[in-house]
Amino acid sequence: MNIQDNRRISYHKKEGQMKKTTALTYFSIIAFSLTTFVFLIKGSIDSYDQSNLSKSECPQNYTDLKGTHKLLARINRDNTKNPQYTQGLLFVNQTFLLESSGQYGKSSIHYLNLDDINNLIFNYELPSNQFGEGCDIINNKVYQLTWLERKINVFNAEDLSFINEMKLDDKVEAGWGLTHRVFNGEIQVLITDGSNKVHIADENFNVKESIQIFDDKKKPVTNLNELEYVNGTLFANIYLTSKIVAIDLENKKVIATYDFQGLVKDANRKKRDECLNGIAYNEYTDSFWITGKNWGFIQEVKLQ
Ligand SMILES: *[C@@H]1O[C@H](CO)[C@@H](O)[C@H](O)[C@H]1NC(C)=O
Ligand SMILES: *[C@@H]1O[C@H](CO)[C@@H](O)[C@H](O)[C@H]1NC(C)=O
Ligand SMILES: *[C@@H]1O[C@H](CO)[C@@H](O)[C@H](O)[C@H]1NC(C)=O
Ligand SMILES: *[C@@H]1O[C@H](CO)[C@@H](O)[C@H](O)[C@H]1NC(C)=O
Repeated sequence: MNIQDNRRISYHKKEGQMKKTTALTYFSIIAFSLTTFVFLIKGSIDSYDQSNLSKSECPQNYTDLKGTHKLLARINRDNTKNPQYTQGLLFVNQTFLLESSGQYGKSSIHYLNLDDINNLIFNYELPSNQFGEGCDIINNKVYQLTWLERKINVFNAEDLSFINEMKLDDKVEAGWGLTHRVFNGEIQVLITDGSNKVHIADENFNVKESIQIFDDKKKPVTNLNELEYVNGTLFANIYLTSKIVAIDLENKKVIATYDFQGLVKDANRKKRDECLNGIAYNEYTDSFWITGKNWGFIQEVKLQ
């Protein structure tokens, strides 16, 4: 567990509360034992402020299906020398993935070849004061969110040379997950910020609508993180859990929940934040590849 991790969790609170929470958190680190600290973090998740969530936005009377999955191939990664704190993952062609990595001083963006996974291709290291988050490719440009910095780095998809930076829309609390879809003939950028919202933005990243996602118990599905959009369904992994949810954006509801506890166990990471993160859909095989932060493998799965 690290300070960054805890700040990240606390960020769900509104801006004003955020400062207080962070200060309190730093105090807690000094004042309490590790056990108390873990308890506090848990409390901070559970006490997510739901007071201003519009319950009426929750679709009435539906059932969230328990999704099943089949494990296919696994490719091991060497996570001892140069571990990747995976924050964003997507396929660019049959065998190449784009990966964004996080943590201050360790963030980068690069391509990976499934046939030579430990080789980071065109690796671009971010300045040490930027924490890399979700990434996507739109019209031959790579967009990479950063977390609290709220910068969007733009790169040339050809060689990941840096082009410029943009600012995250004020409606988005922090940079977490990123993907896009073509909807009614127009590109829509989809962004998560750790809340239960999916922000729908135009091509210039101006947010037009923010949709709240609830489960079938009308509980907000918070910590929505890395995203992938496939065949009209948005897939999101839930930070700090082993779960991926399938979301029907039009009806604002979770249609299936997939649990990858077995993979989390296999990954055997000691820190709580080194959880499942990264979903990439390979259209050539109609399968998903998933991984986690600093995990020693990337796993192909079929969702059913
Ligand atoms: C709650 O949300 C509504 C709609 O976004 C907003 O107008 C209102 O100011 C919010 N209230 C509080 C207390 O944040
Ligand atoms: C709501 O759910 C109940 C129980 O599953 C079902 O009997 C009922 O028909 C549903 N109502 C609507 C409007 O879908
Ligand atoms: C796949 O994408 C990578 C990264 O852009 C590129 O280097 C490679 O040549 C591409 N391969 C094919 C078969 O298009
Ligand atoms: C996506 O749609 C294609 C074409 O209909 C279908 O073959 C494929 O199984 C679908 N994949 C997923 C993950 O929904």
